[in-house]
Amino acid sequence: PENVGIVAMEIYFPSQYVDQTELEKFDGIPAGKYTIGLGQDKMGFCSDREDVHSLCLTVVQNLMQRNNIKPSDIGRLEVGTETIIDKSKSVKSVLMQLFQEEDNTDMEGIDTTNACYGGTNALFNSVNWVESSSWNGKYALVVCGDIAVYATGPARCTGGAGAIAMLVGPNAAAILDRGVRASHMEHVYDFYKPDLSSEYPVVDGALSIKCYLKALDKCYQRYKTKALSTYHQGSSFTMADVDSFCFHTPFCKLVQKSVARLMFNDFIASPDNPKYAEVSAFRDVNPEESYSNKDLEKAFVKASAEVFAKKTQPSLKIANQVGNMYTPSVYGSLCSYISSNDVASLANKRAVLFSYGSGLASSMYSVRFSEDTTPGSPLTKLVASLADLNTRLESRRKVEPSLFSDAMKLREDTHHQAPYTPVGDLSSLFPGTWYLASVDEKHRRKYEVA
Ligand code: ACO
Repeated sequence: PENVGIVAMEIYFPSQYVDQTELEKFDGIPAGKYTIGLGQDKMGFCSDREDVHSLCLTVVQNLMQRNNIKPSDIGRLEVGTETIIDKSKSVKSVLMQLFQEEDNTDMEGIDTTNACYGGTNALFNSVNWVESSSWNGKYALVVCGDIAVYATGPARCTGGAGAIAMLVGPNAAAILDRGVRASHMEHVYDFYKPDLSSEYPVVDGALSIKCYLKALDKCYQRYKTKALSTYHQGSSFTMADVDSFCFHTPFCKLVQKSVARLMFNDFIASPDNPKYAEVSAFRDVNPEESYSNKDLEKAFVKASAEVFAKKTQPSLKIANQVGNMYTPSVYGSLCSYISSNDVASLANKRAVLFSYGSGLASSMYSVRFSEDTTPGSPLTKLVASLADLNTRLESRRKVEPSLFSDAMKLREDTHHQAPYTPVGDLSSLFPGTWYLASVDEKHRRKYEVA
């Protein structure tokens, strides 16, 4: 099959959020650190009524309903998540309750875990499946979902929660370019979850940022080489050859610095090019030292400001308003980018995506939006299905930081408790949301729909 990629997308985020300006005050932090320093305005969070199962059930149900997809249309289903509530049973198996009624259980795929990267592995597997001899002619469904929570301290404001479902098949709206996928994988302890009794990670913030930027460099250099031998034949490949860059977004400021970093890579490859005159002083910088060089960072953020505003800022809407959703984060960027455009302005454009999961696994790849803009085409439907994103974000309920803090404490105290009956308010959930009704004495979870 040709033109394999993302046919439809759906996003779910919690119906409540905490305001980052209010959180700065509540945490006794200088005003501006979370909002200006990290670039975050709002953070979505879940009560004890939601877990990774319910988030994924909700997003899959919404995707199927909004796109008129029948359970029998799906031939593969896999999940990327790092929110582990069971050491053996997969989230995918829980999602099967949406399919098994019609005996549609001939469905490959299972969960993938590596920090924020699992969804990308699920997407690559699904694209490979559609392109392979194992394909049965049906769609693959890729689901990523996480609840990103941190212990009290500097990382807590970079949490978030949500889920994304993507339908993968031929004749896609966003077609994955072949032959350009570029990865960098490495063993490192930058962010990990060794304490299985806690939802919180152990995080070395500074190291995780350095690892992210180093992985970005590696992937971009490899992507450029592959692009030059596939869709972009010529002597050089730079940021100018791409219409948009979407990133895994732990916090928005890191993405602005990432765009600066891409320009730094282009500059190092061609330091004599007059278009880099304002940063030419950095031509001899030691690559290893470049990560901690604040002057370099500032100069390239300034030099790349226009590119950032045009090619990346539109993709940051969800990251800024919901926070880091972990595995769905980079796909939230893609949703935001799509929803900031109309069909005509997206057609035939190319977006490069960078996926990063601590530990670490990272990949850069690209999608080209279909040129078919006729009514009813996959691209037209995809754009229409994401058109209400801003309305949905604005319909959420703002919650006091003290209540957010209480909700975190309650999750901490009752995590893995069995039996357990959640106490979170049901009336504040978006209609149609799946929620945790109860956990029995054998840790079996029951879900209902609001
Ligand atoms: N007004 C404006 N800006 C301010 C203010 C203020 N009052 N105070 C501080 N800032 C700026 C700082 O200058 C800094 O900006 P800069 O780096 O551009 O100079 C920024 O705010 C953050 O301040 P730091 O002191 O660096 O923040 P801190 O170290 O306390 O925490 C961190 C930030 C490390 C990102 C923390 O939130 C964290 O650990 N998050 C989780 C880890 C993470 O997301 N890593 C990314 C990749 S891994 C992953 O995806 C999970």
